[in-house]
Amino acid sequence: MTAQAFPRDPLPPVPPKPLSVSQRGRSGMEILGSMQKLASGVLRQHAAETFFANEKAAELNKVHIADKKPEKSVLRERIAEAKAICESDSIYRLERLVQRYVAEENYNRGIPAIEERREMFEPFVNSEATPAEGATLELNPELSEPKYWSSTEWHLEPGGWEGYDLYPAVFAFTIGPKVFSLGGYAAVGVGDKIQEQRYQVALQFPKESYQRIYEPGCGGFSTLGAVHRVFPEAELHGSDLSPSLLKGCYKMAGALGVPVHLKRTDSTKTGEADSSFDGVITYALHHEMPPKENKALFAEMFRILKPGGDIVISDPPPFRAVDLFHAVILDWDTDHREEPFFSATGESVLEDMLTEVGFENAEAYTIGSQGSYPWVTRARKPEAALN
Ligand SMILES: C[S@@+](CC[C@H](N)C(=O)[O-])C[C@H]1O[C@@H](n2cnc3c(N)ncnc32)[C@H](O)[C@@H]1O
Repeated sequence: MTAQAFPRDPLPPVPPKPLSVSQRGRSGMEILGSMQKLASGVLRQHAAETFFANEKAAELNKVHIADKKPEKSVLRERIAEAKAICESDSIYRLERLVQRYVAEENYNRGIPAIEERREMFEPFVNSEATPAEGATLELNPELSEPKYWSSTEWHLEPGGWEGYDLYPAVFAFTIGPKVFSLGGYAAVGVGDKIQEQRYQVALQFPKESYQRIYEPGCGGFSTLGAVHRVFPEAELHGSDLSPSLLKGCYKMAGALGVPVHLKRTDSTKTGEADSSFDGVITYALHHEMPPKENKALFAEMFRILKPGGDIVISDPPPFRAVDLFHAVILDWDTDHREEPFFSATGESVLEDMLTEVGFENAEAYTIGSQGSYPWVTRARKPEAALN
């Protein structure tokens, strides 16, 4: 009997190659993660100790902590004085140098690492979503974005949110797991678990259940996913200006079987009906909008909320809620990490802005176990409100 008489067993299916960057790409990103951890976890502590050991700094900080609603000009002057003290310390300067270097190198290394394997990552980015039943996505290609959004290279990201077609892969395979996951940048503390923080923020909705929840500036599925964990029965709606983030959100929600409703629109003009939601959540949005736009956004959220509906907000803590050293650190992002509105938002009192457009019981507090992050602001549309 010859071997040919027996048909060969079919070959076992070849498992798909796991998506990964090259060894060089990976190690390049891991070095950035380690540098950031060293800067924020070790150097920053030294710089803070030096700052508070300075008599003038300690005195300024005492005044700052006691001043719960500082005048903007007074606050600016105090931060400028504190900054000058910080900058006289070479460890502070080194810590900031590393922060800036990592923020910039994230893209200088992340983009080539993905580009090197374009044939692997292009299908990942361009694959069709498998939406959950009932999910919707409206990309509104005719919409023109506000100039502040399209002309800013957010966080030093070349070309801004839409600047490179494979950014979703850059975040998913390089910057996300190798750098951001370690925390220690902008307002995020060292070792913070940013997904868990979103879940804790979603828990700040005061009622036991909600029917329809809206997230303006949703970006990906991170916050909507956290809301779904807390309120699995709620119908989820999100909007953003970025087509690529919305597509990624739609895909992720589909992969997890969550029927989201997404629309590309400016969140200050949602096109949603009056009084049509009982909950609104925002996460890391307001510091990316000019104060005037934030005001318009709050008015719009008030309009689409039903009377008695709740708004829950999480954004970096305002300067008045952190010590003066931390205020200098947060303020730095405006000039050095392409965050044009970080300081303006840090100087704002979101509770007052909410009250001005009609919300009641506006309050702000931290849910962090140490420090002021995550910082939460929440309020309610009065039961008796008319739009
Ligand atoms: C830092 S991201 C946060 C995304 C998301 N909320 C999260 O928790 O990951 C800020 C998002 O706000 C969006 N954004 C900024 N201004 C906007 C506006 N006027 N209308 C809609 N989205 C906006 C940006 O495109 C970006 O996706």
